[in-house]
Amino acid sequence: QSLKIGLIPADGIGKEVIPAARTVLEALGSDIPKPEFIDLLAGWEVFTRSGSALPEETVETLRECDGALFGAVSSPSRSVTGYSSPIVALRKQLDLYANVRPVVSVAATPEEKPAVDLVVVRENTECLYVKQEVLTHTAQGKEARATRLITERASHRIGKMAFDIALGRPRKQVTIIHKSNVLSVTDGLFRETVRGVPAKYPGQYDSVKLEEQIVDSAVYRLIREPEIYDVMVAPNLYGDIISDAAAALVGSLGLVPSVNAGDKFVMGEPVHGSAPDIEGKGIANPIAAIRSAALMLRHLGYAQGADRIDVAVDQVIREGQVLTPDLGGSSSTNDVLNAVLKKM
Ligand code: NAI
Ligand code: MG
Repeated sequence: QSLKIGLIPADGIGKEVIPAARTVLEALGSDIPKPEFIDLLAGWEVFTRSGSALPEETVETLRECDGALFGAVSSPSRSVTGYSSPIVALRKQLDLYANVRPVVSVAATPEEKPAVDLVVVRENTECLYVKQEVLTHTAQGKEARATRLITERASHRIGKMAFDIALGRPRKQVTIIHKSNVLSVTDGLFRETVRGVPAKYPGQYDSVKLEEQIVDSAVYRLIREPEIYDVMVAPNLYGDIISDAAAALVGSLGLVPSVNAGDKFVMGEPVHGSAPDIEGKGIANPIAAIRSAALMLRHLGYAQGADRIDVAVDQVIREGQVLTPDLGGSSSTNDVLNAVLKKM
């Protein structure tokens, strides 16, 4: 038995951090089935060469994989004919309906609780991101409208994923983020549907505590008292904003991992972009990519392997001897990789 993993470094520092994550997976030995890696193309660079940001072959090969790791794409700031984000397309084509982003700070000692230890579970397929925008010209001037789609089906499956993730965490708390005081129909449906998840699985989620919060006050409290949150579940747009705000709580973007998850496939992806300002210098922080590999394993059911990676990374950060410049250190990507391997 082997674990088939697609590797899509894509652009910029994606090419520097994904190989590091691969090496860490290889170092796990018998904690996971022997990984088999398949290199795949996507992104801006392959678009400029071939005219496609997401070659058909990449998608077809991923369908046969157990999981994947995606680096980062460089998106042009102007609109380019024929180009669209491969990550958005992948989410759609592989039905990766959830974006899961754990944000965890590293405590001074292994015994202490981290100050921030939460997971943002963001719905990934609908809300305003269905991109049905219409511009019309009226007698009073231009008028723009956007459609916001919220379905019971999508709200239920994201809600269920949030409950399942909470079950695997010590605090077992889910907070629904919404604005149903104003958007009573759309956010009302999201809220009601997520609230209704436990009733559909009698007994399964009895240990999970359910809370809810209006999105604006949730952001305020997230910044002032992040310790009150465990699992936050939100529609697409709120989730997008909250997950970046939460990432700011733990310092560098180079630390924060994510996965795009569906029922049949999971793709790890560091939260950061292709970082053109440090590309090719060998100083990109590989930790977000390494933690994304751990998170991918966790979703595939290999918690032991994932724990081994996370514990090693925590030790390296805690000791503070081998850190890349974004964390105030002067070490290279490879130095950090080697430090993690040594702890493992
Ligand atoms: P960015 O995340 O690439 O960089 C922001 C800042 O954080 C830069 O100063 C960068 O050097 C630093 N940084 C990011 N990751 C780091 C790491 N692992 N180690 C050390 N420092 C790190 O965001 P930016 O500059 O706004 O976007 C650059 C390109 O990336 C753009 O083309 C953008 O469209 C794309 N992008 C892609 C994303 C993705 O693939 N999911 C997400 C965000 C941006
Ligand atoms: Mg974002």
